[in-house]
Amino acid sequence: MAANAAASAVAHGIKSVGVVGAGQMGLGIAYVAALRAEIPSVLLCDASQAQLDKGVSFFESLLKKDVGKGKIKQDQADLARSRLITVPSVEDFARDSSKTPDMVIEAATENLAIKQKIFGSLATHLPLTTILATNTSSISISKIAASAVPAGAKPGSEEAWKGPARALGVHFFNPVPVMKLVEIIPALQTSPDVLERAQAFARACGKEITTSKDVPGFVSNRLLMPFINEAIMTLEKGIATKEDIDTTLKLGMNHPMGPLTLADFIGLDTCLSIMETMYRETSDSKYRPAVLLGRMVDAGWYGKKSGKGFYDY
Ligand code: CAA
Repeated sequence: MAANAAASAVAHGIKSVGVVGAGQMGLGIAYVAALRAEIPSVLLCDASQAQLDKGVSFFESLLKKDVGKGKIKQDQADLARSRLITVPSVEDFARDSSKTPDMVIEAATENLAIKQKIFGSLATHLPLTTILATNTSSISISKIAASAVPAGAKPGSEEAWKGPARALGVHFFNPVPVMKLVEIIPALQTSPDVLERAQAFARACGKEITTSKDVPGFVSNRLLMPFINEAIMTLEKGIATKEDIDTTLKLGMNHPMGPLTLADFIGLDTCLSIMETMYRETSDSKYRPAVLLGRMVDAGWYGKKSGKGFYDY
């Protein structure tokens, strides 16, 4: 499986992958690219050296755990580790021309301005042939793609047209090494060739793929987030305790996690930002974020990553 998968990604011209953001999503993407897709160079970029160091130790601990469980052999782990290279900025992606990424996946904070800045910078420093993917959970892919234009490109020029055509959404799920799906979202501007190569990459990472139109929340969060939001409103209204809400869904519907635990796991700031995007872009009241969700984010209670959310960690 791994050899075929690797051949498939490489056959589609993806021999080097860049990942922007060494948080839980970026790290997971780097992990499956290096281990499962066997991409020869995986460049992980983060402005924070502390975050990069944390990412590398987590990467190594995941490999160790997989070796310990007999899922992979030690030499596979060593090879995967040797493929990972850390860099402090996207300019460094092009430092060694033999490793310039054929595809970059941006997994930075869920904020449009940040993503637009990253895409502008990627378009400036990387060749037009590099696929630019965003792992956004809800932001307009067409809007992010529109910023994939090199600095100084004249409106209407070839660069200004071709830049956005190599951009699309490639949406992984957390924890990336475990979840079997990648949702692919072509922007209005995405070329068919870019879509096909991104699909090959996701399959090479060992994932099933689905495709969604570029609508707020795509398919996944259009369904998931109103469900989580309703669970928060159920708690807010005092209908049941958090434990009973979670247990109802876990045991009654066989969900691996109850919705409040899942919200803590995803990050309450991320859940709020997705709900806000869907509400703002549709004006549909079914996407109105629960007041309690906003207040918890105001308090800095982001869930598992901050040590406190609906539960303490
Ligand atoms: N990284 C890598 N592997 C991990 C991991 C992580 N962060 N967390 C857990 N795992 C692995 C464990 O090592 C274990 O592997 P083995 O089967 O090889 O032993 C496996 O996952 C199961 O873990 P546990 O036994 O510790 O715990 P569990 O059975 O409760 O499973 C879970 C944990 C996989 C997270 C499960 O609870 C689950 O599927 N929860 C729902 C997750 C989900 O819905 N994710 C999507 C969120 S939405 C999103 O990401 C996108 C968005 O746009 C918001």
